Amino acid sequence: MAELMRGLEGVIAAETKISSIIDSQLTYAGYDIDDLTENAQFEEVMFLLWNYRLPNQQELAELKEKLFGYMTLSPRVYSHFEEYTTDKVHPMTALRTSVSYLAHFDENADDNDQAALPERAIRIQAKIASLVASFSRVREGKEPVKPDPSLSYAANFLYMLRGEKPTDVEIEGFNKALILHADHELNASAFTARCSVSSLSDMYSGITAAVGSLKGPLHGGANERVMSMLFDIGSLDNVEPYLEKAFANKDKIMGFGHRVYKNGDPRAKYLKEMSRKITEETGQSELFEMSVKIADILEKEKGLLPNVDFYSATVYHSMGIPHDLFTPIFAVSRTAGWTAHILEQLANNRIIRPRANYVGETDRKYEPIEAR
Ligand code: COA
Repeated sequence: MAELMRGLEGVIAAETKISSIIDSQLTYAGYDIDDLTENAQFEEVMFLLWNYRLPNQQELAELKEKLFGYMTLSPRVYSHFEEYTTDKVHPMTALRTSVSYLAHFDENADDNDQAALPERAIRIQAKIASLVASFSRVREGKEPVKPDPSLSYAANFLYMLRGEKPTDVEIEGFNKALILHADHELNASAFTARCSVSSLSDMYSGITAAVGSLKGPLHGGANERVMSMLFDIGSLDNVEPYLEKAFANKDKIMGFGHRVYKNGDPRAKYLKEMSRKITEETGQSELFEMSVKIADILEKEKGLLPNVDFYSATVYHSMGIPHDLFTPIFAVSRTAGWTAHILEQLANNRIIRPRANYVGETDRKYEPIEAR
C-alpha cells in the first residue's frame, strides 16, 4: 500500500502561478501581500490573480465598468431569497444555493472556451457581492440597494449592504480585508473548485462547490465562531476560566492554528491592527483586549498563533456587519482566488482523480436478505 498522507498534508497536487506561501510569506503572483495590502485596490488584485500581472489604468477602468455592469441581479433572485428567509437558512447556505442559481441566468454558463472564461470570472465576482448584500437586506425586510458606479468594489459592497455610503476609514479597512482573503494557494475550497471543474464541469459548479467547502468551521466558518466565542466569554476576567475549560474538553479554539503556517499567519498582523483601531473607534476595546489575552494564552499554553479568521471577526463586528455574514464576506473576497484557480485548472486540465488505500472487508459473498 502506498503511504497515506492524512488530509493530503505536504502533498503537491498542482502547479500554480496565482499565489505562494514560501517561508511563511504569502505572495500573489510574486507580489508580497504586505505590498498589496498597503497599496492596492481589491479590483487590481482580482486582475492580478486572473492575469498574473497588475492592470494598467485602462484595463482597471474597464474591469471596474464591467464589475459594475454585472452587479445588478435578476428580480427573480430577490424573490427567491424571500423563500430562503422564510426557511431561516444561514447566509452561507443561501449563498451556496444562489451562486448555483446564477447559472440559470447565464445562457453561456457551460461554455468553457478559454476566450469565454475570463468574462465569466468577472461576472461571478460582481454578482457574488450583490448576492450577499441583497440577501442580508431581503431577510431584514428591506429593499435591495442598487450599486453606485462611482464607488469601488469594497465601497459598493458596504453600500449595497447598509444602504448608506461607507466612511473612508471603513472603505480602506474593508478593501484591505478583501485583499487579505483573496487567495491562499491550495486551500481546501480552492482545491475543491479545481477538482470540481477538472471534470470539465462549469465555473458556477466550481464556485458552488467552493462555497460549500469554505462554509465549514475548520475553514472559512471559523470567523463567525470566533465572535460567538468572544460573546460567550463576555469579559476580560472570564478569558482564563473559559480557556481552561475548553482545553480540558479538548475543544478547538476557532481562529487559531494553520496547516501551513506554524510560525504565524502573515495576514493576522494587519487584521490585528485594524481590530485595535476600529474597536477603539467604536468604543468596544474590551473585545480587542479579550482577543489579545486569548492569543497570549493560546501561544503560551499550546504554541498556537492566530490565523486570518481571528482578528477579522472583531473588525467586521465593529463595522456593524451581522456575524453570520462574516463567512459569506470571506467568500466574496475568495471568489477572486477561486475563479483564478478555475481559469488556471482549465487552461491545462487533467481530471483530478487520486487513489485511496482500501481498508475494508474483502472476499465477502452476497447473502439473501432473510439470512442477514
Ligand atoms: N485549538 C486547539 N488545538 C488546536 C487548534 C486549535 N485551533 N488547532 C490545532 N490544534 C491542535 C490539534 O488538536 C492537534 O493536536 P494533537 O496533535 O494533540 O492532536 C495539533 O494542534 C495539530 O493540529 P491539526 O488539527 O492536526 O492541524 P491541521 O493542519 O489538521 O488543521 C486547522 C489546521 C486550521 C484546521 C486547525 O488548526 C483548526 O481546526 N483550527 C481552528 C479552526 C480555524 O481557525 N480555521 C481557520 C483556518 S484559516
